[in-house]
Amino acid sequence: MSRKTLNIGLFGFGCVGLGLYEVLQKTPALKASIKNICVKDREKERAIGKENFTFDKNDILDDESINVVVELIDDADAAFEIVSAALRKGKAVVSANKKMIAEHFAELLELQKEYNVPLLYEAACCASMPIIRNLEEYYDNDLLESIEGIVNGSTNYILTKTFEEDLSYDEALLQAQEKGFAESNPILDTGGFDAKYKLTILLAHAFGHVAKPKDIFNIGIDNIGELELKYAKEKKLKIKLVAQAYKQNDGSISAYVIPKFITPDDRLYNVDDVFNGVITKTSFADTHFFVGRGAGSLPTASAVLSDISALSYDYRYEYKKIYREEDTNLSNETLVKVLLRHKKADSEALKDYFENVEESYSNNDLGYITGTISLNSLI
Ligand code: HSE
Repeated sequence: MSRKTLNIGLFGFGCVGLGLYEVLQKTPALKASIKNICVKDREKERAIGKENFTFDKNDILDDESINVVVELIDDADAAFEIVSAALRKGKAVVSANKKMIAEHFAELLELQKEYNVPLLYEAACCASMPIIRNLEEYYDNDLLESIEGIVNGSTNYILTKTFEEDLSYDEALLQAQEKGFAESNPILDTGGFDAKYKLTILLAHAFGHVAKPKDIFNIGIDNIGELELKYAKEKKLKIKLVAQAYKQNDGSISAYVIPKFITPDDRLYNVDDVFNGVITKTSFADTHFFVGRGAGSLPTASAVLSDISALSYDYRYEYKKIYREEDTNLSNETLVKVLLRHKKADSEALKDYFENVEESYSNNDLGYITGTISLNSLI
């Protein structure tokens, strides 16, 4: 099969954009070159000369010689405008913008169908770790029972540094920002929103279910307190922010993002720092474990590069599971094991929500309950 020559119009030249520029220089076998780069800030000092940049998006969108648009900007609304305009113009698109893709999944699906052009976004989930294409191509819907994993690099970095190296939360977050892992609004990472956007995308490719991010429950790491840290240390557990989705017996899917205590025998236990790890479980293969760098310039650029390369062979997601049109629905009728920290006075009232209380403890003003509770009650 001969490979297409790709003329790229790049939007954004931040951490990942520069990374892509660098990896493209080092992969001459790929017949892909950046023809034009559109950026917003006219004053910013950049690693390459001014002559490479434009400030007008139409210089790329109206350029008929550009057949691939790579969208690597921060602003999800502007990204959606650019990506939808490019698809309407018949240009293939590669994007790393998980928020934009998760929030507009159904519209982007329609646009790809209507204009018969591909949109690829491997870098949007777990950066360098090839999870979307595996879910899309390898697993049949009936066989896949669950996906569970660490899908946000910044929070994993912060948890590792605060837990194991006793760094303060603020210092660890600052490091995650300086290393180019964190979102420009870090609440998206620490509040579990970024993980939820990724889970929304993974759900579509794993189970053919197109959800809205607002329908998926998320708790981040920003409210983890001394009590939970102490509890974990005493019991030799680690705390990880975990995104998970699983099929329930009635066929519904349960999906949520929540910090979890992880035991040393769990494969996620040793997924530390900026690494992401995802465990898939299928009916016959049992489990598979994927691991890779979940954020950062070159690892993210490597996934963008892989999508660009796939376009040169006319690869596209077929969305087979979505088009099978099986009834799938999300349900919060599922049981989760939790440690719930509470004010001492609330202890008895909260216990009523639990299906099963394992342990209950209070000191003068604080307490916690561990046990099983339905996700609905938790929400
Ligand atoms: N802020 C994201 C993370 C970047 O830390 O995982 C990669 O998607």
